[in-house]
Amino acid sequence: MKSRILTALGRADGFVSGQELCDGLKVSRTAVWKVINQLKDEGYEIESVTGKGYRITARPDVVTSDEVESRLRTQWAGHPVHFFETIDSTNNAARKLAEDGAPGGTLAVAEEQRSGKGRRGRGWVMEPGSAIAMSLIVRPQIQPSRASMMTLVMGMAVAAACRSYCGVQAGIKWPNDVVVDGKKICGILTEMSSEIDFINYLVIGAGINTHVEHFPEELSDRALSLHTVMGRKPDRAGLIAACMEKFEQYYDLFLKTQDMSLLREEYESFLVGTGDRVRVLEPGNEYEGVSCGIDDRGELLVRRADGTVEHVYAGEVSVRGIYGYV
Ligand code: BTN
Repeated sequence: MKSRILTALGRADGFVSGQELCDGLKVSRTAVWKVINQLKDEGYEIESVTGKGYRITARPDVVTSDEVESRLRTQWAGHPVHFFETIDSTNNAARKLAEDGAPGGTLAVAEEQRSGKGRRGRGWVMEPGSAIAMSLIVRPQIQPSRASMMTLVMGMAVAAACRSYCGVQAGIKWPNDVVVDGKKICGILTEMSSEIDFINYLVIGAGINTHVEHFPEELSDRALSLHTVMGRKPDRAGLIAACMEKFEQYYDLFLKTQDMSLLREEYESFLVGTGDRVRVLEPGNEYEGVSCGIDDRGELLVRRADGTVEHVYAGEVSVRGIYGYV
């Protein structure tokens, strides 16, 4: 009921009458009043005026289930939200939820992630409250070999949400680092539970640097926070909701063809470094070429000096800009 009251108050232009809340939620005035008081205790500033009703004037910077759910405008992505004050990794939490039968669309969010996981066995460090750590469960009926494209879909969702919700010109460093001004603001890690030809579930985890003020020395030339770009801390719950909205739109398009063909043009509009020289580092093979977009499977197209075009699969490969991280 709390998230529904928050939704009603958040969507209204002005005051919402107590009666409207009671009728909408089919509860008593006392029940509404109790929830309003709980919200005030949690840091929400709510004005109440006799004859007019309630109006939210300030929200705390939280990513609780109630707050995130009250901001969602999606059919399924982000329903429900499981919030953890502290957790080892939201990907681990989401995997457990998925093993226990949580439906596709379930989202795990944490305020503090103690041992976040990065790609290729690396860690992902996040100070409590300094970022977004979220992991979405999906259960697509596609071949496991196509699952890696889901990571690209989340990359697009985060980049698009940063643009529309935060007004930040985010792009994508293939395959799925979301970057601004050549520095990484978001990393994505997708994990899969599957049989040979069947996906049980995917967990797509995204870590977005929102509030970080200073990165450690070794990261400062390649990591960036939305706070620095925007000059203020973005509203994390709103940004999570915007990511879910974009993800849902892109995912539904992805499922129509089970590849990137309907998303390719938009993905390429986010892709940074197109036309630039890159070095491709595959196990036992290293070459240079010019980055020129993606194919329908989400593989990076790299034109070599002799004119042949390589299709680079994300798996074990690193693609480096010749002149820097991007
Ligand atoms: C990368 O190495 O770029 C991927 C980093 C992914 C980090 C996110 S934070 C939320 C989710 N939970 C994790 O343990 N990892 C991902």
